[in-house]
Amino acid sequence: MPVFQVKAIIIENSQMARDIWRMKIYSPEITKAAYPGQFLMLRVRDELLPLLRRPFSFSTINVSEGIFSILYKVVGHGTRLMTKMLAGESVGVLAPLGRGFSKPPDGTKRVWLLAGGIGIAPFFALLEMLKRDSSKLEISLFYGAATGEELVDCRFFENNNCKVNLCTDDGTCGLHGLITDSVERACSLTILPDFFYSCGPTPMQSKVIEWAKCNGIRGQVSMETYMACGMGVCLGCSISKKFFTGNKNEETNYLRVCREGPVFSIGEEN
Ligand SMILES: Cc1cc2nc3c(=O)[nH]c(=O)nc-3n(C[C@H](O)[C@H](O)[C@H](O)COP(=O)(O)OP(=O)(O)OC[C@H]3O[C@@H](n4cnc5c(N)ncnc54)[C@H](O)[C@@H]3O)c2cc1C
Ligand code: FES
Repeated sequence: MPVFQVKAIIIENSQMARDIWRMKIYSPEITKAAYPGQFLMLRVRDELLPLLRRPFSFSTINVSEGIFSILYKVVGHGTRLMTKMLAGESVGVLAPLGRGFSKPPDGTKRVWLLAGGIGIAPFFALLEMLKRDSSKLEISLFYGAATGEELVDCRFFENNNCKVNLCTDDGTCGLHGLITDSVERACSLTILPDFFYSCGPTPMQSKVIEWAKCNGIRGQVSMETYMACGMGVCLGCSISKKFFTGNKNEETNYLRVCREGPVFSIGEEN
């Protein structure tokens, strides 16, 4: 697949929840080539600092309009600067990068989407893809954040026949507890999924992988690591293969999240 380096026009940049923003960007070539779960590297400013581009998942991909969006959380210098960008300005984008989500295996009936915090970002595009390919899939979203004010609007999921289960660390919205608690609870009350997709912080992904292995459920996790180049060169994003296999005795092999990921399969060899 081609990778484009473009100056693209910002269509909209607006706040969606506390510290969570959505930026819509016009680039027909990138939009056409992008796939849910893939990411882009965004050059926040043309000046020296911040020096490195920042990685973000494609959140929505609208091929007919040539517009994609990212959903981003303000955590530091780069993302703070991004909130100041205005519609009509241009921004440097390198994309699409990495391996995205793949379709669930044939015969899959039930799919769970597990989103921790800003991990909700790629699930908008993923849900569209899943619904397009099989309208009969039963899809449930488990979405958690630190507090209710950090949850983004989930009407898109509800309107697409996806059952939404919310939870917050402080109990201000939905179930009181971590997303993995919410998943464990659902497991004791309902039929287990045939397949899952998970995106969120690394400690959450670690627990999700353990849960999937214990229950024999296949799925895919999208990983976040620090990235400098985003193109497989610097090795800064490497993660041990043991993280996915859980086999502490095997030889240490590393996978580049930007190249072999960011989406990795669980329940089969990476
Ligand atoms: C493949 C991929 C997809 C991503 N998709 C999204 C997305 O859709 N939306 C989103 O908001 N963020 C996403 N991220 C994380 C995002 O890239 C970082 O939050 C962003 O680069 C921070 O830039 P900054 O200059 O604001 O923060 P910095 O000033 O660089 O750092 C501020 C704080 O954020 C932490 N931080 C920085 N980068 C990361 C990172 N990669 N992972 C975890 N913590 C980090 C630092 O430890 C520090 O505490 C993604 C990361 C990867 C690798
Ligand atoms: S970010 Fe440089 S190799 Fe992955």
